[in-house]
Amino acid sequence: MKGVAYVNGAFTPLADARISILDRGFLFGDGVYEVAAVLDGRLIDNEAHLARLERSLREIALTSPTPIMEIPALQRELIARNGLREGLTYLQITRGAAPRDFAFPKDVAPTLVMFVQEKSILRSPSAVAGISVKTVPDMRWARRDIKSTSLLPQALAKQAAVASGCMEAWMVDGDGMVTEGASSSAFIITQRGSIVTCPNSSNILPGCTRKAVVALAERRNLAVEQRAFSVAEALDAAEAFITSASAFVLPVVSIDGATIGGGVPGERTRQLRDIYVAFARATAS
Ligand code: PDD
Repeated sequence: MKGVAYVNGAFTPLADARISILDRGFLFGDGVYEVAAVLDGRLIDNEAHLARLERSLREIALTSPTPIMEIPALQRELIARNGLREGLTYLQITRGAAPRDFAFPKDVAPTLVMFVQEKSILRSPSAVAGISVKTVPDMRWARRDIKSTSLLPQALAKQAAVASGCMEAWMVDGDGMVTEGASSSAFIITQRGSIVTCPNSSNILPGCTRKAVVALAERRNLAVEQRAFSVAEALDAAEAFITSASAFVLPVVSIDGATIGGGVPGERTRQLRDIYVAFARATAS
């Protein structure tokens, strides 16, 4: 474990970074998190991630131990201390350590931890070859709009995908509609050229990359439909792709073993990836 982490006000070698076994993030998944990309040592779309963090905190009645406006300086310090050029910043806030009891403890300081991960986002082989996805039942709770650290359903979904040789799971609700990926937003492009993605609601996480891609596409007068789509419609689509802070835009070339768009990344998906990369570079902070 190389690198430097941030734990409750101090930078520390990752190998020495510690939290209590009574931390409610560990015991109950009582916490929220954010992942933002780094290119050339700069943060990508970080304001959107911090705005979503504030909202997640508000929805679970938790106050950040550090004012949100002071977090970017800490993220930048962490990036610098790690010498990170390209990869991810991870940030998690939990309700802190207290004797185990389900209801909120009183007068307990929340926990704030951060670390970084090196990752080659721009030169990802998956961007060239595309990825395969497996559909799984969406077994999550009713507040998927909160970026909660309770990620067991997503971990199970991703593992089922990986066990089938796929890189991502697409979660499907009881009506056969695709909600989103285990750790990404899901899109299809119909045979008529419409970009389709599930609308924001408590059924999905409001993806920051999804929001930027939708806005960039609309600005170019590309047809975007925010509506539910079924697995059957996805199998009939001209193209499919996923978006996330950790991968930007990645083409999907097969779903449950059936090829999409002849099994090669689609041209419109490639354009959207290029458009997003240009936006990321231009707005990095
Ligand atoms: N996951 N949907 C889910 C369930 C996610 O976990 C994520 C992100 C997204 C995409 O959101 P954004 O574009 O803001 O990253 C959608 C992050 C990357 C993760 O957990 O690692």
